[in-house]
Amino acid sequence: MITYELRLPKDINSFRRSVGWYELSQRQLDCAKARSVFAITALDGEKEVGSARVVGDGGYQFFISDVIVRPEYQRMGIGSMMMKKLMECALSAAEDGETIMINLMSAKDKEPFYESLGFMRRPNDERGSGMTRFLTKGESRV
Ligand SMILES: CC(C)(COP(=O)(O)OP(=O)(O)OC[C@H]1O[C@@H](n2cnc3c(N)ncnc32)[C@H](O)[C@@H]1OP(=O)(O)O)[C@@H](O)C(=O)NCCC(=O)NCCS
Repeated sequence: MITYELRLPKDINSFRRSVGWYELSQRQLDCAKARSVFAITALDGEKEVGSARVVGDGGYQFFISDVIVRPEYQRMGIGSMMMKKLMECALSAAEDGETIMINLMSAKDKEPFYESLGFMRRPNDERGSGMTRFLTKGESRV
């Protein structure tokens, strides 16, 4: 049975490696631990099999990041359950009548996963694009 705990995984980089993403530096890992608003880890017994986290202000703006399910555990509903629990967490802090904004950047071709959870693609008739810039210290010029 898969269980869920509201915490970061013990080894964020092992998740990132498992899906071919670049690793975070120790400084970045420390920042993730210190300043993520909340996070979730999915467990199969003791084994950490999924993780995701939220950064933001805790009141209005929430950004879901680093949603990863280990390849051998994908398409079992674990990613959806983690997303739902994170959204419930974000909404539970709100007061009646408040609207919160949950944003994310989909990895390529993963849009159907997020659409199945109620997220809209951008741009659309009402809203412009989300935008991203990656900066590498020592290489990028602002
Ligand atoms: C994207 C990811 C988190 C999905 O997690 P998951 O546990 O496999 O997803 P679920 O089993 O909850 O899928 C629910 C539904 O989302 C959709 N979906 C899931 N993975 C998908 C994919 N790779 N492509 C298209 N649709 C997908 C399907 O409709 C699926 O329902 P179905 O299995 O009945 O067809 C997982 O594939 C993953 O970790 N991928 C590598 C890392 C990554 O790209 N993360 C997203 C970063 S933005």
